Amino acid sequence: VRLDRQAAEPLAAQLERELRSAVRSGRLRPGTPLPSTRSLARQLDVSRGLVVGAYSQLRAEGYLVFSQGAPPRVAATIAAPVEPAWDAPRPQPRFNLRPELPDFGSFPRDEWLRSYRAALKRAPDRVFGYGDARGSGALRSELAAYLGRARGVAAFADHIVVSGGFAQAIGLVCGVLRGEGRRTLAVEDPGHSAVRRVCERAGLTIVPVPVDDEGLDPELLAATGAEAVLLTPAHQFPTGVVLSAPRRSALVAWAAETGGLLIEDDYDAEYRYDRAPVGALQGLAPEHVFYLGSASKTLAPTLRLGWIVPPPRYVRPLVDEVLETIFAAPHLEQQAFGDFVARGELDRHLRRMRLLYRRRRDALVRALGRELPLAEIRGIAAGLYLVAAFPDGYDEPRLLAAAEARGIAVAGVGEHRLDTRGPAALLLGYGRLHETALRAAAGELREAVAAASA
Ligand SMILES: Cc1ncc(COP(=O)(O)O)c(C=O)c1O
Repeated sequence: VRLDRQAAEPLAAQLERELRSAVRSGRLRPGTPLPSTRSLARQLDVSRGLVVGAYSQLRAEGYLVFSQGAPPRVAATIAAPVEPAWDAPRPQPRFNLRPELPDFGSFPRDEWLRSYRAALKRAPDRVFGYGDARGSGALRSELAAYLGRARGVAAFADHIVVSGGFAQAIGLVCGVLRGEGRRTLAVEDPGHSAVRRVCERAGLTIVPVPVDDEGLDPELLAATGAEAVLLTPAHQFPTGVVLSAPRRSALVAWAAETGGLLIEDDYDAEYRYDRAPVGALQGLAPEHVFYLGSASKTLAPTLRLGWIVPPPRYVRPLVDEVLETIFAAPHLEQQAFGDFVARGELDRHLRRMRLLYRRRRDALVRALGRELPLAEIRGIAAGLYLVAAFPDGYDEPRLLAAAEARGIAVAGVGEHRLDTRGPAALLLGYGRLHETALRAAAGELREAVAAASA
């Protein structure tokens, strides 16, 4: 034990800290007897009271045990910490073409700061509590108007529940479904693998339903007997197709006839480049649809902002689910987001981003036409990525490995498949890279494809 008499830290605190760290690091092993207070005080040339104080603090914390007539000992239950094993962070890729990401560099920092500052200034003190379990009332009002206007969602502010992103929203909805005894959830195949895992975690049995050029097939859904279905109607992840009008009607009819529930993941519908986005399925059948949205594509994933518009009879169970799992989602961020939407900043940002992403998409499509003419480019009408499908004979894992070896981060369709088969296909995100970098990435991809097929 070393004490520094020049240090600002009081000797008693130093002694406690030294002893605690000796136990924690294993230098003082479990069961080891310690010197008596008198003897340690003499060795360290401090008062006995100081040692008594340190020993009794460590006893209160559980590091030391005292027993009658014996020296204090290090508690037998203390285990030396094990160095945690954690993978080293991956090096940043040279070209990040992951399909899910918006352009971080375009985050409207100044506008967000203005809204956050305004929200913080205006917020009554009660905002620092848990607040309404549905989330900030001001944001819910803005969302009801925005979702009605931009996505054709039939929403009342009182019936919206704000969550920590889509991921938390789907977990809450799955909890509600389980709570009322539903056990099976149909998902699109291919469909987002991470989202599927969240639903499995929530205790639902996943039933894959194939997706074709019109989206998920309602007849195949009906044949599964599933009690709910999760789907991405506006822009199917990962194929990029839009759910056709006949299928929308067929799915609503399925829900009405069987009591099945439709869960709509509207994750990136705001980005549609050739015409107005296809409206939400929820608008057709608010009684049967849980509508889920997120700010992760329009602004940034780190905000962890998402929302649920449930069928009206599910508002109460959903609120109970919030109260019994997360208590509440952070209100201050919600107030800021509400201000941001109210000022028209979200609309402005989206207008700016649509132009930017469209230019990036066009640059990537042109570059792929030059560099990889053998790949069929699909799903370019909307979203933040496109699909490059390869002819027979190309192996997707090899393509992915060759891309990674060249510093290109991409995803393949394969990781999102359950039972379906299909051609090797890469999901190429164009959201994060400017046009010059996208052209360079396409050239690099050509080399990767050549290496993978050698
Ligand atoms: C299909 C799909 N749904 C939803 C999300 C959004 O999730 P969150 O709002 O939790 O960031 C993503 C993000 O990658 C996604 O790909």
